[in-house]
Amino acid sequence: MNAPLSSYSPASPADTLRAALAGLLDGLPPTQAARAVERLIASYRGTTPTDAPILRDRADVAAYAAYRMPATFEAVRSALGALADAAPEGWAPGSQVDVGGGTGAAVWAVADTWAGERDVTVLDWAEPALALGRELAGSCDRLASVRWQRSRIGAALTIESADLVTVSYVLKELTADDRRAVVDAAAAAASPDGAVVVVEPGTPDGYERIIEARRRLTDAGFHIAAPCPHSAACPIEPGTDWCHFSARVSRSSLHRQVKGGSLAYEDEKFSYVAATRFAPERPAARITRRPQIRKGQALLDLCEAEGALGRETVTKRHGPLYRAARDADWGDAWPPAP
Ligand SMILES: C[S@@+](CC[C@H](N)C(=O)[O-])C[C@H]1O[C@@H](n2cnc3c(N)ncnc32)[C@H](O)[C@@H]1O
Repeated sequence: MNAPLSSYSPASPADTLRAALAGLLDGLPPTQAARAVERLIASYRGTTPTDAPILRDRADVAAYAAYRMPATFEAVRSALGALADAAPEGWAPGSQVDVGGGTGAAVWAVADTWAGERDVTVLDWAEPALALGRELAGSCDRLASVRWQRSRIGAALTIESADLVTVSYVLKELTADDRRAVVDAAAAAASPDGAVVVVEPGTPDGYERIIEARRRLTDAGFHIAAPCPHSAACPIEPGTDWCHFSARVSRSSLHRQVKGGSLAYEDEKFSYVAATRFAPERPAARITRRPQIRKGQALLDLCEAEGALGRETVTKRHGPLYRAARDADWGDAWPPAP
């Protein structure tokens, strides 16, 4: 049955992206797509080359977009959700620069988080990635005016001023000097009411790169809006643990082919920092692990506003708070907003 016109709502950017990515591999023999993905996985495993683009041609970028972009999109969307929660009511970026933006996952994530049009530029040194990003964005009216610009991250990088600068899954591909250069350039580019969001894989080394970026951003005068409910130093003893979160990603048939199994989803682990020039509205604490639910109690591992780690046991005696703890998820603010 057709939905009544009155309940019609246009597809969200997330749905539009999913459909555009599904069409990407149409016509490509499945074994060829799987081979391109396997080559990419090998490039990203271990020491990632920093002297030349990994995404060299259309097959590489199609494999990247089909295989990795849904996951990087969900990770960035989750980080932006936490930034949106910490921003004053009505704050939305009027402009975005996505550095090392590749096929544009962070641009789609911003469009999915905040309504309306904005001025957007994607910078990357891989022309095939920019070309495919432009092609995918063609399926979403709100992304029609995005500028896709070739640019190399290095000491000479300058970024035009923007309300939001995103750097997603890029630091791993850079030398230590270039990592510092891109974070400093992002900090310099953020408008007086702006923000910088950096996302990396949720691995111990990804977390270390985030902590280094976080330190540079606080040294440059930024507040930490998320995930930390404070701007003090990270309370994790170096080498003992790593702060990371998880975003659920639907698996495509390509994922099932490459990874085997029949699960309909997988969880993308990521580390991130959202830093703002404005004073954020931070929660009292954030849940830093999947809550452990036992009979009659929920155990929550927390990072707290004083810049310390803590654990809270919420039992049935706590009534509505107990119910909230049972529903709470890894990465949520705690306690939940009334
Ligand atoms: C893993 S991809 C991430 C793409 C996108 N940001 C995302 O989240 O899906 C890393 C991107 O960084 C770009 N990149 C790596 N080193 C670069 C450099 N030195 N200058 C410009 N872009 C670079 C790559 O071309 C690639 O598009």
